[in-house]
Amino acid sequence: MEKLSFTVSTDQEKKIEALIAKMTVDEKIGQLNQVGPSPVGGFEISLKEKKLMLKEGKITKEEFERDLEGVQWDTRESDVRSGKIGSFLGMRGVEKCNHMQHIAVEESRLGIPLFFGLDVVHGLRTIFPIPLAESCSFDENLFEQTARIAAKEAAATGIKLTFAPMIDVCRDARWGRIAEGAGEDTYLTSRFAAAKVRGFQGDDIAKDDRIAACAKHFVAYGAAIGGRDYNSADMSLQTLWETYLPPFKEAVDSGVATFMTSFNDLNGEPCTTSKYLLKDILRNKWRFNGAVISDSGAIGELIEHGTVSDKAEAAEQALNAGIDIDMSSMCYTENLKNSVLRSNISEEELNEAVRRVLRLKFALGLFDHPYTDELSGEKMYLCKAHTQLAREAGRKSIVLLKNDGILPLKSNLKIAVVGELAATRKEMLGTWAAMGRGDEAVCLLDGFAERNISVSYEECCKVNGTFDRTALERAVKDADIVIAAVGEYADMSGEASSLCNIGLHGEQEKMLSALKELGKPFVTVMFNGRPLAVPKAVKISNALIEAWHLGSQAGNSICDVLFGDYNPSGRLTATFPNHSGECPIYYNHVSTGRPTSEIRHSCKYMDAPLTPLFPFGYGLSYTEYTYKDFIINEEKNGLCAEVTVKNIGEIAGEETVQLYAHMQKAKRVRPVRELKAFKKVYLNPGEEKRVKLFIDRCAFQYYDMQMNLVEGSGAVDFFIGHDSTASLKTVMILGGGSNE
Ligand code: GLC
Repeated sequence: MEKLSFTVSTDQEKKIEALIAKMTVDEKIGQLNQVGPSPVGGFEISLKEKKLMLKEGKITKEEFERDLEGVQWDTRESDVRSGKIGSFLGMRGVEKCNHMQHIAVEESRLGIPLFFGLDVVHGLRTIFPIPLAESCSFDENLFEQTARIAAKEAAATGIKLTFAPMIDVCRDARWGRIAEGAGEDTYLTSRFAAAKVRGFQGDDIAKDDRIAACAKHFVAYGAAIGGRDYNSADMSLQTLWETYLPPFKEAVDSGVATFMTSFNDLNGEPCTTSKYLLKDILRNKWRFNGAVISDSGAIGELIEHGTVSDKAEAAEQALNAGIDIDMSSMCYTENLKNSVLRSNISEEELNEAVRRVLRLKFALGLFDHPYTDELSGEKMYLCKAHTQLAREAGRKSIVLLKNDGILPLKSNLKIAVVGELAATRKEMLGTWAAMGRGDEAVCLLDGFAERNISVSYEECCKVNGTFDRTALERAVKDADIVIAAVGEYADMSGEASSLCNIGLHGEQEKMLSALKELGKPFVTVMFNGRPLAVPKAVKISNALIEAWHLGSQAGNSICDVLFGDYNPSGRLTATFPNHSGECPIYYNHVSTGRPTSEIRHSCKYMDAPLTPLFPFGYGLSYTEYTYKDFIINEEKNGLCAEVTVKNIGEIAGEETVQLYAHMQKAKRVRPVRELKAFKKVYLNPGEEKRVKLFIDRCAFQYYDMQMNLVEGSGAVDFFIGHDSTASLKTVMILGGGSNE
């Protein structure tokens, strides 16, 4: 039984077949061709070379962006008119989309509409926290709500497909794209995947405020060796199936409309041409019936992978494997006609890919209403409701990592603020900020200003720059407390942003040390797109806030936490190492025969602590929660855990109850802890609640050495509490009834 990503009526199926019967081979190939507007003129050299100059530091970011502004963009109108393009990526602006759509519908021979795709990963114009930040809310409803608003704004801009959610589990913070996903845990990433697909697609992607989602990058892109982007991923099939595939299966079960394959090779096979992934698993086992898009240029990159001789072979292998849409490589357009003429590709294979693309377009309602209202967008971008949600999402994504009692800030304090990132609006948007505009974001200084709190500000230190002690002393001399902004620019995480040193860049740490020497109490606020190895900042700061890149309302969300209007509730979804050299580092590792301990001959580094800087699930609050009376009972389809949680502080807050399991014995080694359920609970001061969490019985399945799916059995340790180091424990014999 196929998992219906979207439904296409019998009548629509007939129309599709009628269209295919009319289409020439060129027109069929055109439907499989996805391109972006390309810059012409404006550059005396190609855009690729210009980008290289930027990367090599030969031109500044400002110079590059200024050149880009002046460039004309070729939207390939004649190719659309002649049916050579089926969809666009990166077309920005509803007027442009309608203009191109008019050419396709009114001026091409068959009038097949285009669809427009864009990376609407965490908002279109109202920008929400980067996914890694938002995942720290552990709030599935929030995951869905922000995707819902992103879809509304995207659809109003003519975008009917987003290249999101990115659901690559990642255990290595050196990989810049950890910013785009939900962190290191498979279960949380699976919940994130389902919520995002619901939020983007709703129950009908034809609605004018819904868009198709795209599960990416299929698969194991986040396991790039060394955390180096685009690098190989190499793992056992057991790890692939237990750690990296489940979020994608969740996306299929949630009805995701499309998939995107990943750049990397997996166990020696490029994902772009993997029949194991695209046919055996995606089509045959999971029964996915949506469309598959390659990543940008990836089909052409098969030559570099060394698995094809030329672009023609690349096109044939990709189509044969099940890539329906060629993003940006032009391999399909330039080669498939000859492949059909030489019978290297059958016309039926071509038709099958075209069928899936046309089904997607019918499901998107593009044949019935191909154009977008050009006025609705401006009214909704950054409207009050969307902005409020951005602020709420920001609050919930903040993780309080240290607090010696200095927070929340008392009123009437003389506050000094230092650090470049306190005053930079566009850096708040983070990576993949779609059509977000830097000048529309609220930076930290804006946050103070919106509260009519005057602060003294000095930049003192740029992210990659030198530290100006004189400016620092000037800024803080009359201050009671200092807020120090440190971290990364938005483009230091995301694609092509791997780092081998994930400490604080430049002389930012020097600035913090100087604050310590000056004896001023200070709160360090970190703006970053990945876990950072910042043990010194943790040691010398009075308080430390992880503020990620929170999007349009960053400054307000942070001030809400600083001044106690919001009691921080975020919990880390990626482990923070003490040192870059500890990566990859993650909580759900196996025991080994010599578990990490003080003993010399145990699994550890001699020059690093035995525990991470901050573990998965960690996060402080302005109050304190206690847990008691933890029991687990076996039920019909799984297990039900119960625990009593109490707020023993004086401030109301939201606790994220986390339930972990450890199988004491199995045919293969199992993780020392695995998140199996979580639930948020709001508690007033002194209030306690009985919280129930359900674990599906299949959550204990794993693969044996022969890749047989095994039902976990025997004694299982369960831990419940505040983070992955929770000590409140009970043991259950799976299949052995209840125990308390
Ligand atoms: C990029 C990314 C992918 C994105 C695509 C289109 O290279 O790998 O995540 O969706 O190109 O922008």
